[in-house]
Amino acid sequence: MKALIASGGRGTRLRPITHTRNKHLIPIANKPILHYAIEAAAMAGITDIAIVINADSDEVPNAIGDGSRWGVRITYIPQVTPGGLAQVVALAESFVGKDKFIFYLGDNMVVGGVQRFVDEFLKSGCNCFLTLSRVKDPERFGVPEIRDGRIVSVEEKPKHPRSSYAVAGIYLYDHHIFEAVKAITPSARGELEISDAHQYLLDKGYTVGFTEITGWWKDTGKPTDLLEANRLVLDNMTPSNDGDVDERSTLAGKVVVQKGARIVNSVIRGPAIIGEGCVIEDSYIGPFSSIGSNTIVRRSEVEYSIILRDCKILNVGIRLEGSILGNDVEIVEAVGKPLVHRFMIGDQSRVEVV
Ligand code: DAU
Repeated sequence: MKALIASGGRGTRLRPITHTRNKHLIPIANKPILHYAIEAAAMAGITDIAIVINADSDEVPNAIGDGSRWGVRITYIPQVTPGGLAQVVALAESFVGKDKFIFYLGDNMVVGGVQRFVDEFLKSGCNCFLTLSRVKDPERFGVPEIRDGRIVSVEEKPKHPRSSYAVAGIYLYDHHIFEAVKAITPSARGELEISDAHQYLLDKGYTVGFTEITGWWKDTGKPTDLLEANRLVLDNMTPSNDGDVDERSTLAGKVVVQKGARIVNSVIRGPAIIGEGCVIEDSYIGPFSSIGSNTIVRRSEVEYSIILRDCKILNVGIRLEGSILGNDVEIVEAVGKPLVHRFMIGDQSRVEVV
């Protein structure tokens, strides 16, 4: 069994954060999203992993390396333009050979790993095995039609979904998928759609099985999805304290304080993570917040937010909530009062709050 992970594409729905960073390197609970996919494969005993990257950037290989820190071997496969997920699969044919493999979209996150899916796929003997998750907005996803317990069709982003399931970005295949991805043609939006490859397999009589994801699963394509994924990961963390918390401060609930962080006269109400070298002073950090390394929060309040590294949040009178801040962002005191602040700001921005 091998693994193929997609980390290309342009991440347009996450701009401006993705102007300066590949979206798969955005941290969730202070760890790049892509790490979760690699860890899931490694924990399922897979040691041969290929990651498809944008051909014009070394950012992902530079950040991830050769895989040795997870005990795996990583091969990078460049994609010249983001031509669709079926193209991503086609690019991996010589890497995969005749092996079975798991195809994992690098922006997807699932609790509990992928071992169960691998086991069920191998036991089923199917040519293709899809993971399904019930969603409120199936029109954003690939959607299966299920009759008598079998998938009979799969449609990409349908206007009139035939079920309330999304096909999640964790697929398991044998080598017949390569026949499918070579046979299909680009969709109206110009992409080789993975859903069309699945439909091809169904049309040709190959077996397409499925399993339902019973825990949480998230596609982190939009800013609100990032905050939700962050909330869910933080909620599953084990508390720890490697920093320096003074006697006037309180850590309540699941709080992780990373190495060298200083908490002074502050309340941290978990689930929350405070990154290495942070200074949190006279402040409140509320549930579902991730504070990246070397960020300073002084006389301010932050809740349900993702703050990247080297930010400064100083004397902000109103709580920051539902916000995503890139690296080196400064939010400093100003006068006036909106009731909450909600931001999506790229690296090196500066905001003065009224
Ligand atoms: O998340 C599940 C959904 O993922 C499925 O339900 C859909 O059937 C599937 O098409 C896909 O839809 P998205 O619209 O979410 O795909 P997106 O363009 O966001 O790309 C998914 C991942 O693959 C993301 O990590 C970027 C990467 N990618 C994407 C394309 C189009 C590449 O590496 N290369 C590409 O050419």
